[in-house]
Amino acid sequence: MENNRKKEFFFNKIYHLLFSEKFSKKINYNFEKKSRIDLINLVIKKNRYKKYLEIGCNLDEVFDKININKVGVDPVSGGNFRGTSDDFFSKNSDKFDCIFIDGLHIYEQVMKDILNSIKFLDDNGVIIIHDCLPESIGHQRVPRSRYNWNGDVWKAIVEVRTWKNFDTFTILADQGLGIIKKRKNLNVLNIEKKSFKDLKFKFFYNNYKEIMRTVSFKNGIEMI
Ligand SMILES: C[S@@+](CC[C@H](N)C(=O)[O-])C[C@H]1O[C@@H](n2cnc3c(N)ncnc32)[C@H](O)[C@@H]1O
Repeated sequence: MENNRKKEFFFNKIYHLLFSEKFSKKINYNFEKKSRIDLINLVIKKNRYKKYLEIGCNLDEVFDKININKVGVDPVSGGNFRGTSDDFFSKNSDKFDCIFIDGLHIYEQVMKDILNSIKFLDDNGVIIIHDCLPESIGHQRVPRSRYNWNGDVWKAIVEVRTWKNFDTFTILADQGLGIIKKRKNLNVLNIEKKSFKDLKFKFFYNNYKEIMRTVSFKNGIEMI
């Protein structure tokens, strides 16, 4: 299994060497020492949320620390629903007020997870998305070619930032915690882009503060 993974990463590295964007600079975000677990529990307490959904649970590091009514979706391990997020949403009829998206970190799947989550989100609820701030091009490359990996989740955040009826920003902690609230967007991002998937890491590097609308942990909590 481990050998298969090493082989897969090796071939993906060669693919990127031949065909992908090249950019060597890294971003130092100076992330605050607060985690996704701190954030989720604080917003649950602050807003008296009652129902939690997690997409992608793995070792239940987060799922085990949530003490309200909860559903955890993962095709491989953790949670309490065995299957993909698409399987889950196709069967679900429940509403949730806190949804944490941390499944397959590829733009197309994250967009699907966001659109499905919006359908089942209470009006005062929140969607939290992990892995929104990759520190280097390698951390965001698809297909995946390294162990520590954020994927291109950030492109989904940029897309939602252009919508008028969803307020979206990114907290500078724990690999970047994207936040989506169902309310008027007073900070609509205007970028001329037909395909968000095709955005380049160089563009992200030069503009991440504005396109992701980065905020401190403290300000983020106040905004949720
Ligand atoms: C980064 S881990 C989740 C970590 C966990 N949320 C935490 O904070 O500790 C990603 C998980 O997503 C799961 N996953 C992959 N594809 C998925 C999909 N289509 N739907 C739901 N989960 C998926 C993987 O099996 C893996 O366990």
